[in-house]
Amino acid sequence: MAVVSSETVPVVTETDVVTVRRRVREAAAKLGFSLVDQTKVVTAASELARNTLLYGGGGVMELSTLNGPRVGLRLMFEDKGPGIPDIQLALRDGFTTGSGLGLGLGGAKRLVNEFEVVSRVGEGTKITIVRWK
Ligand SMILES: Nc1ncnc2c1ncn2[C@@H]1O[C@H](COP(=O)(O)OP(=O)(O)OP(=O)(O)O)[C@@H](O)[C@H]1O
Ligand SMILES: [Mg+2]
Repeated sequence: MAVVSSETVPVVTETDVVTVRRRVREAAAKLGFSLVDQTKVVTAASELARNTLLYGGGGVMELSTLNGPRVGLRLMFEDKGPGIPDIQLALRDGFTTGSGLGLGLGGAKRLVNEFEVVSRVGEGTKITIVRWK
């Protein structure tokens, strides 16, 4: 698996979430993703960016284009917030510590091909997703 290109987008304000959505859409389109697949990865990115902002206190998204043998988009969301004490519980539909519906993480997971959460309480959270073309 080769990383062809990589860029970092800040996720610190509501406006940054809009930028995340736009950049992910552009990158997916450039890779030749179908409109449906573009929307899937944009929706997943939007949920994760929102969590980074809301629960992580802000952070960054690293967007990478993958090539060889398969073409795909890898998105990594990282924050230095409070961390997630119980990842299995956080992934459960309906679980929220905020005022959301608790559907973001589980929903994002179902929209992509690879989904990894690394989180340490008091240190932060890193969520990596991959959607293959
Ligand atoms: N980056 C993060 N840092 C700390 N906790 C997080 C982070 N992302 C998610 N969580 C925790 O996981 C829970 C579930 O997240 P999820 O996105 O599924 O639901 P939500 O954000 O509460 O609601 P929704 O996304 O449906 O609006 C959150 O309520 C929060 O407690
Ligand atoms: Mg959420």
